[in-house]
Amino acid sequence: MHRIGVLTSGGDCSGMNAAVRGVVRGALARGLEVVGIQKGFRGLLERQWDELSSKSVSGLLQRGGTFLQSARCREMLEEEGQQRALDHLDELGIEGLVVIGGDGSLWGALALQGRGVPVVGIPASIDNDIPCTDMSLGVDTALNNIVYAVDCLKDTASSHDRAFVVETMGRNCGYLAVTAAIACGAEFALIPETPYDLQKICSVLQRRYREGRSNSLIMVAEGVATAREIADQISDGIGFETRIMILGHYQRGGPPSVFDRLLGARFGVAAVDALLAGDHGRMLGLSCSRLITTDLAKVLAGGRRPIDETIMQLASVLES
Ligand code: F6P
Repeated sequence: MHRIGVLTSGGDCSGMNAAVRGVVRGALARGLEVVGIQKGFRGLLERQWDELSSKSVSGLLQRGGTFLQSARCREMLEEEGQQRALDHLDELGIEGLVVIGGDGSLWGALALQGRGVPVVGIPASIDNDIPCTDMSLGVDTALNNIVYAVDCLKDTASSHDRAFVVETMGRNCGYLAVTAAIACGAEFALIPETPYDLQKICSVLQRRYREGRSNSLIMVAEGVATAREIADQISDGIGFETRIMILGHYQRGGPPSVFDRLLGARFGVAAVDALLAGDHGRMLGLSCSRLITTDLAKVLAGGRRPIDETIMQLASVLES
């Protein structure tokens, strides 16, 4: 193998730059050339790429987002798009590809592997819903962002005896909402995985109000309902004002945490080594602090990664 490609695809997250830097520096150290494909699979289809040098990835570690840029690309789910991607990889002389992204991106990676391109996937998504890894890239930074914002919010909430509903990302997965609830001392986390009991929430909030607690906090994952909808339901039930905060894309950006910088660096270099060792068609993952690889087809066959039962139990024990 002489020449590899790297791309970031799907929703961006902090730590992607560290991973690309790891791929580039790792590859150069092993005598390989590296092509950076811009805007994910879309850039591969639309001929947007550049040779990357060691200097190309200087000064990036502390930057959130992805300097290669990213996109969601539905064409890669279709035969015609996959063939065009293959043609462009051939034209570029790329003999191995590192795909950094979430489950949609890993489906694209699997499709190319099926067409004979050696591919290694790096799990990157703030949702932490990718199976076969304890943590995906970007999760830790997103959680730190949420905790910082909620700590600020609690200062003002406490000054006014207010209840706040905070909306986190997570269309199908409540990992961010439930772990942030534990870290921020929220009273409830409403997540897509389990139904919620509005009556119970209202009676706990009323009790807290009577006890003179200075604030109450409910985290809601976007997949459950909007913060506005939950706040309106609660206000009707408790008879006092509830405010909202929607964290939105703020959660995805910002300087990566140390954890994500280290994880990105480890994943990036390990992806190159996996390609060179012929360990392709696989996704890297973290298991009990060690790097592992798992067959991409197995990763994707498993659906979404469930939230650890012990985390759910911890959150419910700490409620109210
Ligand atoms: O999958 C990552 C994620 O950040 C989800 O939590 C969120 O629902 C979605 O992406 C938002 O996507 P977009 O950036 O396309 O609005």
